[in-house]
Amino acid sequence: MWSGRFETAPDAATFEFGSSFRFDRRLFEDDVRGSIAWARALARAGVIQTDDARALENALNELLDRGRKEPSFVGGPDEDVHSFVERLLTERLGDTGRRLHTGRSRNEQVSVDLRLYLLRRVPLIQRAIAAVVAALAARARSAGDAVMPAFTHLRPAQPVLVAHFFLAHAAALRRDHVRFDQARDEADALPLGSGAIAGTSYPIDTDALARDLGLSHVVANSIDASSDRDFAASFLYASALTMVHLSRLAEDLIILSGDEYRFFELSDALSTGSSMMPQKKNPDPLELVRGKSGRATGHLIGLLMTIKGLPSGYNKDLQEDKEAIFDAEDTIAGSLAAVRAVVDGLTVDVERAEAAASGLLLATDVADYLVGRGVAFRRAHEIVAAMVRRLASEKRDFASLTIAEWRAASDRFDEDIADRVGPRQSVAARRTPQSTAPQAVAAQLADVEQWVARAG
Ligand code: ARG
Repeated sequence: MWSGRFETAPDAATFEFGSSFRFDRRLFEDDVRGSIAWARALARAGVIQTDDARALENALNELLDRGRKEPSFVGGPDEDVHSFVERLLTERLGDTGRRLHTGRSRNEQVSVDLRLYLLRRVPLIQRAIAAVVAALAARARSAGDAVMPAFTHLRPAQPVLVAHFFLAHAAALRRDHVRFDQARDEADALPLGSGAIAGTSYPIDTDALARDLGLSHVVANSIDASSDRDFAASFLYASALTMVHLSRLAEDLIILSGDEYRFFELSDALSTGSSMMPQKKNPDPLELVRGKSGRATGHLIGLLMTIKGLPSGYNKDLQEDKEAIFDAEDTIAGSLAAVRAVVDGLTVDVERAEAAASGLLLATDVADYLVGRGVAFRRAHEIVAAMVRRLASEKRDFASLTIAEWRAASDRFDEDIADRVGPRQSVAARRTPQSTAPQAVAAQLADVEQWVARAG
């Protein structure tokens, strides 16, 4: 394609080092679509004959069909997918094939291909995110009024509804879904017409070309367009943060299904055994998701590092964007499917979770009781902290206190205190919409379910 400039053939090993066809074959469909639109745009601009444009379009459609039916067809000694498509066109159409690249550069071609690719692939990731949100909502619904402790510093903090815990993870994933919308919006711009760097000298109707490709607008600046991989970084950011969220969910489930807590039980089908220790039931899929979050984050950082020192315009360094994107995509798709399966297969040990939500973690509720009786909160905190100190040392909790003992701690405690202190009462006492109050959680759940119905 570019060998005319040189006296000798390229060094084979170095050519191989620079070639991207091995991985950018994934852009085949997008490259063909971009080329069909470009052929039409050239004809509209009077640069090539309508007959040539039609021949190119037909040949490109045939290539597309063949490539879809027979994936191994998309392969060969070519440097990249763009040269592959052009070679086949030229083999089939001769000079007509040779006209397609008029006024166009691979610099803008690779950008449009990648944009089109992300525009068609991101919705699939979003659907998989919505499926995990749906699985979490289903667990929230079936948890009913079950309670568990919520943690701060990984120490039991306060009772919450189990449903509230599941919906917390759903909330993070809904933000990820929005973040992928933003990544998609950023990819949605037409770079064609930028030429190699300065723009093209043929009168291409870029608005019509953008419409033809389903893109909403044309990029603002050709230099920027050939340099810009912000849309790729945004995609990797959305992927990395989603993976971080999946990792945190995985970590919660690993801990809370472990023998120390055992609020949750993982499905046997999604656990693994040990080759040596017969009792083991290991959460391998969750651990892998947690591990892969490092890899997805690495792709984001890797691309940012690749871009940061580049001079304006296209540089071959930018070829590094694709493997990052493809691997991030595969990683997130696999992880979402695994997490969804684990969440689907999860059961709640209601008794254990509730027992763990009782005891000294009701201390804040006891303090709130005193506040309700006119005690200043800081004072109430001190009184209850002293009670906790003593109860802890005696290995007791609030439920074991006699009324005389309550009174000894503060004369503001009345008979009703015994009924007022418990995980269910604690949960029911919450008053804000984002709280774990049963009505608030029911509203949250309804909102998530409606969202799933729209997004899924
Ligand atoms: N394979 C290249 C890439 O991925 C395509 C663009 C090549 N452009 C060039 N001037 N060498 O970035």
